[in-house]
Amino acid sequence: MYDLAVAWDWIAFSVRWLHVITAMAWIGASFYFIALDLMLKPNPALPDGAYGEEWEVHGGGFYHTVKYLVAPAQMPEHLTWHKWQSYTTWLSGAALLMIMYWVGGELFLLDPTKADLSLWQGILISGGSLTIGWLLYDQMCKSRLSEHPTVLMLLLFVILVAMSWGYNQIFTGRAALLHLGAFTATIMTANVFFQIMPNQRIVVADLKAGRTPDAKYGKIAKVRSTHNNYLTLPVVFLMLSNHYPLAFGTQYAWIIASLIFLTGVTIRHYFNTMHATGKGPHWTWGVTVILMILIAWLSSVRPTQTLEQAEAQPLTQYEQKFASAASFDEAYDTVLGNCSMCHAREPVWGTMKWAPKGVYLETPGDVARQADQIYLQAGISHAMPPPNAVQMDEEGRAVIVAWVNEVRQKE
Ligand code: HEC
Repeated sequence: MYDLAVAWDWIAFSVRWLHVITAMAWIGASFYFIALDLMLKPNPALPDGAYGEEWEVHGGGFYHTVKYLVAPAQMPEHLTWHKWQSYTTWLSGAALLMIMYWVGGELFLLDPTKADLSLWQGILISGGSLTIGWLLYDQMCKSRLSEHPTVLMLLLFVILVAMSWGYNQIFTGRAALLHLGAFTATIMTANVFFQIMPNQRIVVADLKAGRTPDAKYGKIAKVRSTHNNYLTLPVVFLMLSNHYPLAFGTQYAWIIASLIFLTGVTIRHYFNTMHATGKGPHWTWGVTVILMILIAWLSSVRPTQTLEQAEAQPLTQYEQKFASAASFDEAYDTVLGNCSMCHAREPVWGTMKWAPKGVYLETPGDVARQADQIYLQAGISHAMPPPNAVQMDEEGRAVIVAWVNEVRQKE
């Protein structure tokens, strides 16, 4: 049995699980501090240097938090830092990206109908774009533009739209949206790692040495954390988008992703204002709904490739490896008989309008490309096909297992 596929799937699952847990911790803490910040109330009785206070009740007790704008007059002995939530989210996310889109690049990253890239070129663009994107953004924030926060935000949006378009020119739609999310999330974590934390350490060191810290550090942190605030919701959407072929499976995926960034701003603006003033601007929900309707409409423009075009597409080297196996013909017939009614460019099953999860299993190239997935979903597990639709017999499953094993054993 080809156990590597099973082990690999569980490794991917474990890293994904870790990633979700760390991201919840990060975003939870981030939302909490943003709300706390906006809800602080002034109180003349507070000590010198205190900006405001907040009383909260939670979990059977009362909490009294006081915020010092630059710093308290004296450093407390014990100080809790919030940084590992962000770092571990990025590290686990980077690992997951490598597992899915680098190691699994033949299936999830490369799209030969868009760009004729080798796996190595794809990986280089994937990793390189994330690094260069951060450097560009960082320089922009350090330039004179930092004195015009609104212009800076607009420019950041333009960069995100350009990246969205660029990724969609070369990668699969699914990889494009995921990379856009990774690009944005990299900016967010790098803001914490390269800017917010080092500046905070300077302030702490100044205080310990009895020097007055420079207020500019607080200002820098504020600009960066405002960006992080508005980017959070779009990142979550982009990270989950691979479950929604409607979002990534059209040629307008790049516009859909750009509009999602705008909904991130409208939704956050509502909550930010509400926490600060007790009343949110309701128009933001109207705009969000209009944006979502626009997105839904754009997503219905499909498909990018017809069956005839797919059949005419020459097989990639990777597909060739699976399609040239002696047992391929039998496996291909099995897939056609058990899967293609749903996993087609124009499905014929029930009222289904598009292939579930954007997985096509029609042409020999489709089937060869998805070999590992077919093996996992229908060969060694009974996840596919849905039993109420098609009852696939054990012989059919054995044919698939034998085919993939034949190819893997030759490697
Ligand atoms: C009756 C329709 C139908 C048939 C037939 C069918 N599938 Fe699916 N398939 C689905 C649906 C629906 C989903 C999405 C499930 C979900 O949302 O979790 C899916 C998802 C998948 C996925 C993606 C899984 C993931 O989570 O990324 C693969 C791979 C897959 N099917 C392979 C197959 C194979 C192989 C066959 C034939 C042996 C098959 N399917 C037959 C409906 C079908």
